[in-house]
Amino acid sequence: MEKREKLYEGKAKILYATDHPDLVIQYFKDDATAFNAKKKGTVDEKGIMNNGISAKIFEYLGANGVPTHFEKQLSDREMLVKKVQIVPVEVIIRNRAAGSLCRNYGAVEGKVLSRPIYELCYKNDAYNDPLMNEDHVITLDLATDAELADMKKITFQVNELLKKFFLALNIELIDFKIEFGRYKGKIILADEISPDTCRLWEVGTGVRLDKDRFRNDLGNIKEGYQEVLKRVTHK
Ligand code: TMP
Repeated sequence: MEKREKLYEGKAKILYATDHPDLVIQYFKDDATAFNAKKKGTVDEKGIMNNGISAKIFEYLGANGVPTHFEKQLSDREMLVKKVQIVPVEVIIRNRAAGSLCRNYGAVEGKVLSRPIYELCYKNDAYNDPLMNEDHVITLDLATDAELADMKKITFQVNELLKKFFLALNIELIDFKIEFGRYKGKIILADEISPDTCRLWEVGTGVRLDKDRFRNDLGNIKEGYQEVLKRVTHK
């Protein structure tokens, strides 16, 4: 697969064209941002760890019937993915209270939620990724009713599968954010799934194994990602 021109550069990844019109290369950087890029830094080898973790998770989800953009891992920082049109909506599920649910609504961190909270945010840095509901998504023409229904169904399916996946590694899935894309008329899972986009607490100890180490200056950031990679790849 030949790597061609840069198509897009985001905060944590770069997309490159390939010689295949339907496939692109997703390159993972070490750059880290938090609180809508108000906080910036780098985490040594984060790109390598997130590429490895995302690849394993996409393989697992794909094997369990979730449509994803993942094709294969190409190198330590690159994966080959289907070229999608990203739906500019960040979809979040929360199983326990953490992060903005505590900051914005006063929930007690760690509270087990009586049912998962399904949240939608507008993926738009200029507007600070505001929380939105399904009416906003539809009337602002970000997605159709049918697409939203697919996204919701897949998101709850991903929650069940990922809870099980991580629990087997002695990790609890506290919350996560995913993104979807359109590919040949269908909605499929895109972007990445990694400690940048999930909150992962070790069962029993509550040790944080995710980007909250960076967001909240908890220290040993790289080690947290490394621990997740080690468990996910059984090394
Ligand atoms: P939050 O508590 O900050 O709203 O985050 C909820 C989940 O979504 C958490 O697992 C981190 C993830 N997330 C992203 O992946 N990207 C983002 O821009 C934000 C705000 C959260």
